[in-house]
Amino acid sequence: MTTAIELKPSAHPTSDAEREAILAAPGFGRHFTDHMVTIKWTEGRGWHDAQLQPYAPLSIDPANMTLHYAQSIFEGLKAYRRADGTVATFRPAANAERFQRSARRLAMPELPVETFIAAIDALVTQDEAWVPSGGEESLYLRPFMFATEVGLGVRPANEYLFMVIASPAGAYFSGGLKPVSVWLSEEYVRAAPGGTGEAKCAGNYAASLVAQAQAAEHGCDQVVWLDAVERRWIEEMGGMNLYFVEGTGTDATIVTPELTGTLLPGITRDSLLRIAGDLGYKTAERRISKEEWQQGNADGTISEVFACGTAAVITPVGSVKSTRASWTVGDGGTGPITAQLRKALLDIQTGEAPDGHGWMHRL
Ligand code: PLP
Ligand code: COI
Repeated sequence: MTTAIELKPSAHPTSDAEREAILAAPGFGRHFTDHMVTIKWTEGRGWHDAQLQPYAPLSIDPANMTLHYAQSIFEGLKAYRRADGTVATFRPAANAERFQRSARRLAMPELPVETFIAAIDALVTQDEAWVPSGGEESLYLRPFMFATEVGLGVRPANEYLFMVIASPAGAYFSGGLKPVSVWLSEEYVRAAPGGTGEAKCAGNYAASLVAQAQAAEHGCDQVVWLDAVERRWIEEMGGMNLYFVEGTGTDATIVTPELTGTLLPGITRDSLLRIAGDLGYKTAERRISKEEWQQGNADGTISEVFACGTAAVITPVGSVKSTRASWTVGDGGTGPITAQLRKALLDIQTGEAPDGHGWMHRL
């Protein structure tokens, strides 16, 4: 797309006092900045009408195809205020590439990587005052795309809207770094081979909610998904990938379930494989069964377990429950390697540590 992004600034931006009050306790996904990006796609014309405009509701026709057939994909990434006051996003090209893969799986048009990054840069530049500083806060960016054609025929739509909105973010879990309890979902599955598990599409999240409610009924914070075929192999959580620490100290191996096509290839997951290697740990991507988890916990071979994702950063898993068994992970607290990896990742993102992999994208 060659169209430049046209700026239509908000006539009524949030006052400094109101913004500062929001940034003091942003929560997650509750407040939005003053602008949003919109770019249209029409069959035969491609991408057009790129605008950075005031954040506002959309008007939707009742026969909008997304409402009926769910051609809807999204991404999540963050902009960080760095120690020197500048702002940078983390690996936006990786999100842009995953967005293209999600689009292909959902029979939607692929947005060029450079347009995805330009849209994010434009929004973050315009609403830079919304990027929190200090602590673990950041500006969460939500690029998404959905069908805008009106009609009830079941086929790929011929019109789409790509958008980016931004929301200042604190901790994803209200307990902060407190370990979460998880429920192994043996009744419901998230994704089956050949399905949409590795795409970041809205339907995957809709399908997860009933299991999340089941987890809550059992007193757990989150669901852990098992594979659909044997209901045995650990896949991921509702919005995070999983890591297992085998052994302790410098001899530890950091293990994550391999990418089988049914779990989301997380960018945090990928980054941690490299950071763990940089810190001298052995790493492995392989299948881990629920029996291995329970046994490894009982005999001490698994010392720590944590979840990772853009919104959740790194969150320790403290306890596990299923229909047959329940157990505490390690001593139920935050393990030393979990804490070390979390700090190493955040330090790169906030500029406290050198960015040896060239992951940070400056405005
Ligand atoms: N798995 C699922 C289902 C997710 O929604 C996410 C969040 O984006 C992740 C894993 C972690 O991915 P990332 O690290 O790219 O945020
Ligand atoms: C993210 O971490 O960006 C996610 O998309 C997870 C969740 C908020 C859906």
